[in-house]
Amino acid sequence: MSPVPSGSPSSDRQLPPVIALRNITRTYKMGDSEVHALAGVSLVIERGEFVAIMGASGSGKSTMMNIIGCLDVPSSGRYWLDGVDVRGLDETRLARVRNRKIGFVFQSFNLIPRTSALANIELPMLYAGVHAKERRARALAALDLVGLSSRAGHMPSEMSGGQQQRVAVARALVTNPALILADEPTGNLDTHASDEVMNVFESLNRAGRTVVLITHEPDIAERTKRTVRLRDGLIISDENTTRGPRRAEMGAAR
Ligand SMILES: Nc1ncnc2c1ncn2[C@@H]1O[C@H](COP(=O)(O)OP(=O)(O)OP(=O)(O)O)[C@@H](O)[C@H]1O
Ligand SMILES: [Mg+2]
Repeated sequence: MSPVPSGSPSSDRQLPPVIALRNITRTYKMGDSEVHALAGVSLVIERGEFVAIMGASGSGKSTMMNIIGCLDVPSSGRYWLDGVDVRGLDETRLARVRNRKIGFVFQSFNLIPRTSALANIELPMLYAGVHAKERRARALAALDLVGLSSRAGHMPSEMSGGQQQRVAVARALVTNPALILADEPTGNLDTHASDEVMNVFESLNRAGRTVVLITHEPDIAERTKRTVRLRDGLIISDENTTRGPRRAEMGAAR
């Protein structure tokens, strides 16, 4: 395994960054032409960060998300996920790394219909071979974290959009992943529900979770601590978006 690049030279943290992308490209061949969906992206995200990825339609957000989520592999460049160089991993190993390290949240919630909130949250632990009793206990704790203890027995169809997305967030975090990766998590929600979901992400991040989300909405990005903007497959800006006194604190730490 090759050494993991250090994201912050001034930091003395022992743990590797959660995400380290180095010169990542992703090219799609379309007949005779090529689309450079990612044209050389380097990015380091440390443990405990709360990051928004923004950019116009077609700028490469989903392509980057798929690579970060180990759902796709780059055409060139290197990617370390929580210290693991994913280059050369076969499908099985990639799937294992993905399941262990990443909790996904999707725009459309992707809950299993006609299955209770609690059972939906237990599902990833079932795949991971966690015993029934512990599954139940951890699912209940996750449900409590997203403020939905009273909805344990509700089916997805018996919950609001915001509640369904909070169940999806509980499902994403219940396996204790290194990273929570969310693709437009508030894209299908009204302002109030978006607010509820962002409150959950914020409190998870305060508790030390690393959260990366894709969004089109400046209001949503503003609630994260760092905003990375893509244009034409390249990072055009990378800003600390923490408001108030913490801005200086974060700036000094980075
Ligand atoms: N499977 C594919 N085959 C060919 N070209 C693709 C494919 N997927 C994406 N692209 C192209 O790559 C570029 C980046 O696409 P991507 O889906 O990453 O954009 P995006 O930023 O997620 O956009 P949106 O905000 O609309 O979701 C676009 O020009 C797109 O047309
Ligand atoms: Mg997209």
